[in-house]
Amino acid sequence: MDELVFYHWLAIAWMALAVVTFVALFFITAPYGRFTRKGWGPRIESRWGWIIMESPSIIAMVVLFAIGPQRTNPVAIVLVLLWAVHYVHRTYIFPFRLHSSRQSMTVSVILMAVVFNLGNGYLNGRYLFDLGPALQTSWFGDPRFIIGILLFIGGYALNQHADRVLIGLRKPGETGYKIPRGGAYRFISCPNYLGEMIEWAGWALMAWNLGAVAFLVWTVANLAPRAFRTHRWYGQEFADYPKERKALIPFIV
Ligand SMILES: NC(=O)c1ccc[n+]([C@@H]2O[C@H](COP(=O)([O-])OP(=O)(O)OC[C@H]3O[C@@H](n4cnc5c(N)ncnc54)[C@H](OP(=O)(O)O)[C@@H]3O)[C@@H](O)[C@H]2O)c1
Repeated sequence: MDELVFYHWLAIAWMALAVVTFVALFFITAPYGRFTRKGWGPRIESRWGWIIMESPSIIAMVVLFAIGPQRTNPVAIVLVLLWAVHYVHRTYIFPFRLHSSRQSMTVSVILMAVVFNLGNGYLNGRYLFDLGPALQTSWFGDPRFIIGILLFIGGYALNQHADRVLIGLRKPGETGYKIPRGGAYRFISCPNYLGEMIEWAGWALMAWNLGAVAFLVWTVANLAPRAFRTHRWYGQEFADYPKERKALIPFIV
């Protein structure tokens, strides 16, 4: 089968799987972080877990960029750099900033993330850097690129701010949970997840291909159910949890 045909069918199947996962996650909460529980198999040290599960994203993208014909294309260079900014931080810096209450992570979650990140890396890098048409430098002036990069930077900033607030809630050695306050937490319980979704919506606009849309669909499928579950958890855990705060979208839901 022609690789482009394979690519399109894979992207469609990938999105269909995301829709199934979205529905499933309302019934089965993904067992990591505060919702981790027994019965999901062996565990390994959390920091290694983060590094192992996120590395395929950065490695796949950089390798596909380096071996593809677009490696001197300015648009491809900007896109791979933006991807790297996010994933170098997420893979090699973020895990060392956390004051997690848990020292370990389930291997089954890590393996699922590795499979996802390999597929996602292929779907994003392969089209952008080889199978798809070369994006010309005029693309930098296209509204899809301009709006996309603004959303990407805005989403990244929101995600960073929200994660920083959470990390700052615990002093070294503390393990309990507290109510996050200030900034975007005045409006919603999970601005980190909203920031992540905005970031990849921006990426989908900038990259303008099916693989990038599939990544956005997966991000929403993973994080929206988790935001609603986390919001409910805060309400159950803290009697004084701010009543006006929504889960994910200010003033709406
Ligand atoms: N693109 C995607 O599909 C995707 C999927 C998953 C995650 N992510 C991103 O990865 C990052 C981490 O996600 P996550 O789900 O692991 O985040 P999280 O559950 O909010 O946890 C982040 C860190 O903050 C701590 N924390 C959270 N709430 C706290 C509270 N109320 N009081 C004290 N400490 C608290 C957690 O401690 P504990 O470990 O002790 O709970 C953990 O160390 C986010 O930026 C998210 O957007 C992206």
